Amino acid sequence: MSHSYNIAIDGPAGAGKSTVAKRIARELNYIYVDTGAMYRAMALYLIHNQVDSRDQAAIAEACRYADISIEYQDGEQVVLLNGENVNAYLRTEEVGNMASVSSAVPEVRLKLVELQRRLAAKADVVMDGRDIGTYVLPDADVKIYLTASSRTRAERRFLELKEKGGNRSLDEIEQDIVERDRRDMSREFAPLRQAEDAVLVDSSDMTADEVVERIISLCR
Ligand code: DC
Repeated sequence: MSHSYNIAIDGPAGAGKSTVAKRIARELNYIYVDTGAMYRAMALYLIHNQVDSRDQAAIAEACRYADISIEYQDGEQVVLLNGENVNAYLRTEEVGNMASVSSAVPEVRLKLVELQRRLAAKADVVMDGRDIGTYVLPDADVKIYLTASSRTRAERRFLELKEKGGNRSLDEIEQDIVERDRRDMSREFAPLRQAEDAVLVDSSDMTADEVVERIISLCR
């Protein structure tokens, strides 16, 4: 079997990973794998089952009963939670915050990392997340650490939420982002950090197209 080509994009919340990863996948005809959506689906399962986010043992136990898989429909990643398409419920602040907490539990990560590695072994992928270059795909062909200032990231999320009718202030959103980064970077198991062989891209003063171009030029 020929080797599949893997691009790993890691970075903090709101850096623009999914926007650019999707465009890169489209341009190169690769599959986009959104690993955050898998952690969010697991979080949704825990919320539905009223698992206490502070109870690590309960999370470790409950996650055994969440079967998460993905499918592609018209090029879009669809996350199935126990057979049901849950895409429409994943992108809320509540689910994102739960995902940031529950993703620190090793049992949750081991389960999802296995799925991620299987996908990357069988297809050319652009995979985004927090630990792709450092842990999931240490041999990825190209590794990017995509970041931006917390203010810029908060501004982007603010606009996104406002479009959906949200009414949270920019300061509140920035506080949330800073707190989420702190959790993602300080957990013990596979924390968010830049891999030694990753290229740092700061998107604070770049458009999405510029970031896409830069990453594609690194792949050539
Ligand atoms: O990228 P996102 O906002 O959809 O991710 C939601 C949470 O999932 C994030 O706070 C941390 C966690 N996550 C992770 O721990 N590892 C990944 N590879 C992707 C996401």
